[in-house]
Amino acid sequence: MIEIKNVNKYFGENQVLTDVSVDIEQGEIFGIIGHSGAGKSTLLRCINRLETFDTGSIVVDGNNVGNLNEKELRDLRKNLGMIFQHFSLLERKTVFENVALPMECFGFPKDEIKRRVEELLDLVGILDKKDDKPRNLSGGQKQRVAIARALTMSPSVLLCDEATSALDPKTTNSILSLLQEINEKLGITIVMVTHQMEVIKQICTRTAIMDGGKILEIGNTEDIFLNNNKPLRKLLGEENIVLPSGTNLKLLFTNDMSNKSIITGMARELDIDVSIVFGKLEKFREDILGSLIINIPDGSLEKVEQYLTNVGMRWQEVDNEL
Ligand SMILES: Nc1ncnc2c1ncn2[C@@H]1O[C@H](COP(=O)(O)OP(=O)(O)OP(=O)(O)O)[C@@H](O)[C@H]1O
Ligand SMILES: [Mg+2]
Repeated sequence: MIEIKNVNKYFGENQVLTDVSVDIEQGEIFGIIGHSGAGKSTLLRCINRLETFDTGSIVVDGNNVGNLNEKELRDLRKNLGMIFQHFSLLERKTVFENVALPMECFGFPKDEIKRRVEELLDLVGILDKKDDKPRNLSGGQKQRVAIARALTMSPSVLLCDEATSALDPKTTNSILSLLQEINEKLGITIVMVTHQMEVIKQICTRTAIMDGGKILEIGNTEDIFLNNNKPLRKLLGEENIVLPSGTNLKLLFTNDMSNKSIITGMARELDIDVSIVFGKLEKFREDILGSLIINIPDGSLEKVEQYLTNVGMRWQEVDNEL
């Protein structure tokens, strides 16, 4: 659906995207998370060619966005709706007129515009506000208008740049639910750029972590949280706590594993001392994900690995650097 391959981009001397490769599949909600200045917005804007890039390729629905003529570029942008942190609504126009704008630009007949705009305002839950001006709306309502406007041309992709960053947590939740509903009902692929972990946790099926213009990790969101590798820990400002001697192992618990007394069972059966070094539980959608760092004596790694494999446990060996 969106294939980004080895993209590099400079602003003057400053390289802001380095060898970025991401495949985003049809119908998924894909998250891109990273600190300020990581290059998230730049990458998103390369997808709809609001920005150019220097090398590499981006293919959207089979179209290579790097070499489109003006008409093809217009068609590309029709197919890629976009919403922003600060909504970008026209203050002088009513809610209805704001949403109608793209269709007016493309010269659609008035009755078709009316039908489509009202249908979309109904979908986003603010049909009753259609004659209001944006200043009379709350932030969440303004973002609903922006979402409706982004959907007017029936795009197959919705690009969201910090769409919930200006909203309080409760309103953020309601906008995330709306985006999820749109994804399910209309089958639209959604790309969410954000620095909010909650956004990723709540609705993104897969996630890329960006830092310094590079993709550091990419995968299923649940796996990223479960593995809690260095890129995520860096983003969260966490460090792995490990002991200097013996071997440190990180055990990964998913819901079905959390209640089993694996550690005590293993210590008893293998007749070894096991120290518990660090533990963390994380709520992830309906599940509780946990990780536990244990320390085992030198020479016991092989039988511990065997034991963990037999009971179906996921684990990784860890050091300070992982
Ligand atoms: N038009 C521009 N001209 C020059 N440099 C730019 C321009 N736009 C962005 N940059 C630089 O590119 C880098 C990436 O910026 P970008 O806006 O993509 O980051 P971001 O991850 O979206 O950050 P934020 O979370 O703050 O929105 C930054 O170092 C920024 O200063
Ligand atoms: Mg940005």
